[in-house]
Amino acid sequence: MANQRLRALLRWTKWADWAIAAVGFTIIIFVLTFFFDSSSTDGAASSVNLPASDLVDLTLLHNAKDRGALCLDGSLPGYHFQKGFGSGSNNWLLHIEGGGWCNTIESCSTRKTTALGSSNFMERQVSFSGILSSDPSQNPDFFSWNKVKIHYCDGASFAGRPESEFKNGTNLFFRGQLIWEALMDELLSVGMSNAKQAFLTGCSAGGLAAVIHCDDFRERLPQHATVKCLADASFFLDESDVQGNRTMRSFYDDVFHLQGVAKSLDKNCLSRMGNSSCLFPREFIKNIRTPVFIVNPAYDFWQIRNILVPDVSDPQGYWQTCRLNIHSCNPNQLEILKGFRNSLLNALSEFQQKNEAGMFTWMAETWHSPSSPRINSKD
Ligand SMILES: *[C@@H]1O[C@H](CO)[C@@H](O)[C@H](O)[C@H]1NC(C)=O
Ligand SMILES: *[C@@H]1O[C@H](CO)[C@@H](O)[C@H](O)[C@H]1NC(C)=O
Ligand SMILES: *[C@@H]1O[C@H](CO)[C@@H](O)[C@H](O)[C@H]1NC(C)=O
Repeated sequence: MANQRLRALLRWTKWADWAIAAVGFTIIIFVLTFFFDSSSTDGAASSVNLPASDLVDLTLLHNAKDRGALCLDGSLPGYHFQKGFGSGSNNWLLHIEGGGWCNTIESCSTRKTTALGSSNFMERQVSFSGILSSDPSQNPDFFSWNKVKIHYCDGASFAGRPESEFKNGTNLFFRGQLIWEALMDELLSVGMSNAKQAFLTGCSAGGLAAVIHCDDFRERLPQHATVKCLADASFFLDESDVQGNRTMRSFYDDVFHLQGVAKSLDKNCLSRMGNSSCLFPREFIKNIRTPVFIVNPAYDFWQIRNILVPDVSDPQGYWQTCRLNIHSCNPNQLEILKGFRNSLLNALSEFQQKNEAGMFTWMAETWHSPSSPRINSKD
């Protein structure tokens, strides 16, 4: 059984774009009792017509305009929806895409001109593969479920608030929380209100959004439904960089203040810390009442490139090659990487002590997926 779960997880790594780069699995930690009952994934496919193509159209959120739920540039948010069938008709899988955050007027204004800030730039059709695939051989657990790929276009993990918008002609909409609420209502109205099982997942900044909103998601669904959340490569650490500067902390602090995200964050954490540290999963994930599953590389190269060795802290380019490929690191750098990895494992083991929690880490040896997000989405 454990093996079966593990295999399912290995398959999952395929759907995360960035995880294409994960070459080897050296460290495999705890897979606790967390998974959907495998009886729910029966072979009903043979008796049902599979969708002809896994290309799925973009839907612009219908109720968004009335509710002021807008992307950074004021355009309507979008998602791709594929209806479930057969045994999956009442099951829902949501996947929130990643893409970093914007922390300044300047970086948010740049983001407005991309799909991460505006539906004007979103692809009209996307192909559903991996965990979103309707091919049972590719995706035996979820192929028949209702599946929704949610575009991320607010720059603050669906936690921004309009109260923080500038009133002086700086045309930026901070509506992440409103997008989340409008999206939930829309999905509930097209069948999610009858969900028997529901799974909220996300990658990177999208995984952060999934855990921020996990309990809220739970509360919107029928009481008898089985609801779980998954954060993939989203366990961002509050660690110093190689110069000893708190680059990530101050970056999150900027996001927190710019978009006024406090009201969307965990109340317990806020009453304890009262500040932007509550954006770090380590600080609030233990308070989540809904089962959460964590998938994270132990050598998380996104975090290495952006938290441990951000560009500003490596002006000499001493880390240039090591940052991209662990085989190019010298012994001193390897020690520092190991230290970072240990911090990650320590933080995860705190989380692991929680019942029903699950986690999975692996080692990503290289990191060169074109879609791997940077903090400021400069590339
Ligand atoms: C609006 O206010 C912000 C914050 O005070 C400032 O940084 C920005 O430059 C202002 N924008 C304009 C267009 O005046
Ligand atoms: C990082 O900290 C050092 C002192 O340890 C300081 O001189 C430097 O300006 C800081 N760099 C950044 C990018 O803040
Ligand atoms: C938030 O508060 C905690 C506890 O007082 C403190 O350790 C941490 O440095 C603060 N974080 C920020 C970003 O100010």
